[in-house]
Amino acid sequence: MCGIVGYIGPQDATPIILNGLKRLEYRGYDSAGLAVLENSHIEVRRDAGKLSRLATLVHDLPVHGHVGIGHTRWATHGEPNARNAHPHMGMTGDVVVVHNGIVENYLALREDLQAEGVIFKSETDSEVIVHLVEHYLGAGYDLTEAARQALGHLKGAHGVVLLSSREPDKIVAARIGNAGGVVIGVGQDEMYVASDLPAILDHTRRVVFLESGQMATITRQGLAVQSLTGAGLPYEIHTIAWDPVAAEKGEYRHFMEKEIHEQVRSLTDTIGGRVDFDQARILLPELNLTPEIARSIKKITIVASGTAWHAGTVGKVLIERIARLPVEVDIASEFRYRDPIVDGDTVILAISQSGETADTLAAMEEGRSKGARLWSIVNAIGSQAMRIADGYISMLSGPEIGVASTKAYTAPLVDLYMLAILLGDLRGVLDESTRRKLIADLRLVPDLAGRCLDREAEVEKVARVLLNVTNCLYLGRGINMPTASEGALKLKELSYIHAEGYPAGEMKHGPIALIDHDLPVIVIAPRDPWYDKMLSQIEQAKARGGMVIAVATDGDELIASKADHVLWVPETPWMLSPITTVIPLQMLAYHIAALRGLDVDQPRNLAKSVTVE
Ligand code: G6P
Repeated sequence: MCGIVGYIGPQDATPIILNGLKRLEYRGYDSAGLAVLENSHIEVRRDAGKLSRLATLVHDLPVHGHVGIGHTRWATHGEPNARNAHPHMGMTGDVVVVHNGIVENYLALREDLQAEGVIFKSETDSEVIVHLVEHYLGAGYDLTEAARQALGHLKGAHGVVLLSSREPDKIVAARIGNAGGVVIGVGQDEMYVASDLPAILDHTRRVVFLESGQMATITRQGLAVQSLTGAGLPYEIHTIAWDPVAAEKGEYRHFMEKEIHEQVRSLTDTIGGRVDFDQARILLPELNLTPEIARSIKKITIVASGTAWHAGTVGKVLIERIARLPVEVDIASEFRYRDPIVDGDTVILAISQSGETADTLAAMEEGRSKGARLWSIVNAIGSQAMRIADGYISMLSGPEIGVASTKAYTAPLVDLYMLAILLGDLRGVLDESTRRKLIADLRLVPDLAGRCLDREAEVEKVARVLLNVTNCLYLGRGINMPTASEGALKLKELSYIHAEGYPAGEMKHGPIALIDHDLPVIVIAPRDPWYDKMLSQIEQAKARGGMVIAVATDGDELIASKADHVLWVPETPWMLSPITTVIPLQMLAYHIAALRGLDVDQPRNLAKSVTVE
């Protein structure tokens, strides 16, 4: 998962950058590099593989200077090799960039730049940034302004750091959306910049967090912050506590809040390296899936617990729809006691954040004993569910500390979507244009998630409305039925408010009896194929005096006129909509619990990893 470190000051930048990158190693990466300004020109060192290879390179070919930037890369566009590693240099050699995020429109930008005569040296999306900056430098702008102009062309969410030999006294950093943060460390006559706090905490505890839509020009003496529209902005210097746990929390009050915001990054990472966007193919090498195996599978049974089970329920819709393969979804604790029908043509697919949930592991064993193939989608690297499987998909969400799962819910939704496409492709049931469209849509995911996060203030207002309720009904249908269940689970586990997620079509068979003025009804109604059905649910709830809170697509005036409150989400391809519809519900549950003063990260009676039956 990409990491960024930069330094400007009197010390030698190279060891500071290497040390900072080392501190970010835990996030995972597949290549690394640095660029240092040495005697008025930029020297780049980069290589595939571990940081030790970069350190060897720097040892054999030393580089010294007082300004530099470094990066650990987790491949998204282009394989992990030295050429694709960051920093990326422009044509003149005067400017370099390191980047976190996905440039959604990089193909169009690359074509435009190529038409101007730019020659690309890598397969990355990131390289367009440095050429765009160079274009504006060539037009006479200074580095800050050239960066601002260039960033205006990028679609998606980004953390960007730039260095130019023409202006050796500065580093320019920017954050657009939520592709991970940009934090600036304030020292004595020296400054640091990084994607994450651990990279700079060895040097300073005084930091400035860039907000989305802000950029900073950093010199030895300090920084100037401006918006991407060019307006100067004030900033606040925070002092980070020495407690390493508190330090990891960074700018957030709770780990859960941090993890909700990390979703843009975790979604980027789980896509990273698994998609060949140019060829429109899915690569999931750890699954060990061949066309023969794909064609031999007769049924997939998903086994999981809690939040992971909800993810599995979305997976059923995706795999059945895209790969035309029957899928059952079982609660892991129910599976083995039923003497389930499983044979050698069945795949048992376990989904688990921890990879250690006893019930889920037992369900896998049950499958194994009946001769099934075992797959898993797991977050904790090296956990049992990963080790005992015949093939796995790593969520790559990074450590999840908050007991209530958030980023480890949305990442497997993407993994299941990719799995469905791969299966459909290998089984020969997916035509090329559909496959290309489904894969192109993946590129939108991180930014769409970021746009949901941008609406946090509006969600908090609704949280205040619901602060003292005692019950809540969540309704959803089709691919967003699990969103209702997951939204309700988040609310009950965090805030101890009784909440139920129900298939909306079932409301008339029971829950409708509950609806009165005191029961808020949360209706998941994005523009998906079940939209019209959800509209009539809203009518039915309103007719009985219920307070309706709708999760709806931007610009949906009809819903706005019917619901009491709306949690808006950006227009999302429907098969990916459970990612955007759940984020406001995560934030809603979080804010209700936080406003109630509850222990958000460790709700009573719950455990992060349930290793007993
Ligand atoms: C516990 C946690 C839940 C989680 C479930 C399954 O109950 O509190 O948040 O969804 O276990 O955990 P797993 O690690 O298997 O995803």
